[in-house]
Amino acid sequence: MIDIPALAAAFQNKYGNKPRLFRAPGRVNLIGEHTDYNEGFVLPMAIDQQTIAAISPRPDRMLQVWSMNLSETAELNLDALGPGRRGNWLDYIEGTAAALMASGASMTGANIAIQSDIALGGGLSSSAALEISLAKALLSISNSPMDNLSLTLAGQTAEHVHVGINSGIMDQFTSVHSSAGHAILLDCRSIKSRFIPLNLKGYRILVCNSRVKHSLASSEYNQRRRDCERGVKMLRSLLPEIRSLRDVSISDFSKYKSILPDFVLRCCRHVITENARTLKAADALETGDITEMGALMSASHQSLRDDYLVSCPELDLLVNSAESQPGVLGARMTGGGFGGCTVSMVKESAIENFKENVAHQYHVETGLIPDIFVVSASNGASEIPI
Ligand code: GLA
Repeated sequence: MIDIPALAAAFQNKYGNKPRLFRAPGRVNLIGEHTDYNEGFVLPMAIDQQTIAAISPRPDRMLQVWSMNLSETAELNLDALGPGRRGNWLDYIEGTAAALMASGASMTGANIAIQSDIALGGGLSSSAALEISLAKALLSISNSPMDNLSLTLAGQTAEHVHVGINSGIMDQFTSVHSSAGHAILLDCRSIKSRFIPLNLKGYRILVCNSRVKHSLASSEYNQRRRDCERGVKMLRSLLPEIRSLRDVSISDFSKYKSILPDFVLRCCRHVITENARTLKAADALETGDITEMGALMSASHQSLRDDYLVSCPELDLLVNSAESQPGVLGARMTGGGFGGCTVSMVKESAIENFKENVAHQYHVETGLIPDIFVVSASNGASEIPI
């Protein structure tokens, strides 16, 4: 938990004036992985971990930025923003400011302090939370209003241009649009969404952070995206009406899949079946069939592991260990993969045992201590009144 008065006091101490504060949450995706950039469906929720951008305007065109988590400061000139791609946190700052200006926002200089209680780089969208909290902060002090969809897209543009990951829209969308107590079913083609109440009947959502991040993550992510696009092109020779994997039914896929090279076939099969699972999961949550929801989560993990090849031994271990505990309905990796977190649905009364047993087994087999915690569905980004 971020100590908000302490953050405001630290800001005042450093910059000499009172800040305004803007928060944006991280997210956990319940199901619908690697479907967003294929115009498919996702079912994430914002979590009760967040990033806060504290900000006050400056009379010049400079952004003075202080990352309190990293104890680093930096300075950027709004009139001379660079191309990013340094491989560190400043890419997100520069990318967000550049994307806002590119979409027509006018910007003033600012003093900024950033603090987050989301595990950085842990697969819970710490980067989207940084982009969105900062974007809200910059827009507000510049008196430059922007609608929520443009704000979402600006965050995504920062990732594409300045960070170099061709990510989908799920993370930024969730950080902007969430509602406490709900997951969001998002159609990533139409960008239409529906809140689904999280009526979990005595079960809770647990996140296990593996505390590993494999270096492959971003290059493999972009590669998967290209493989999916290749699959669409090839399938289009037989199914000319399709625009993305979202348009391919499971039965058409079975009919035509043999024209695809094996690894493209597997990527496509994951995305096509994951879209179907995600829609079923939304129905299951809505009708209170959480046993079905859990089974779909576990099937999603198998598909990510065996077809999409984005899991890793640490995530598989956490999922297997979770599934062997009493009171667990399902578990899966969440986010891009190659490290980061898993998400499990666990009976309230079984949580303490779960934490102890999974942490113990993971530690014995990897030497690492995982971070295991319950998450609650939170509201999207907002200003914090002080
Ligand atoms: C990352 C990306 C998202 C999404 C997931 C995988 O979190 O930022 O857009 O593609 O991976 O589902």
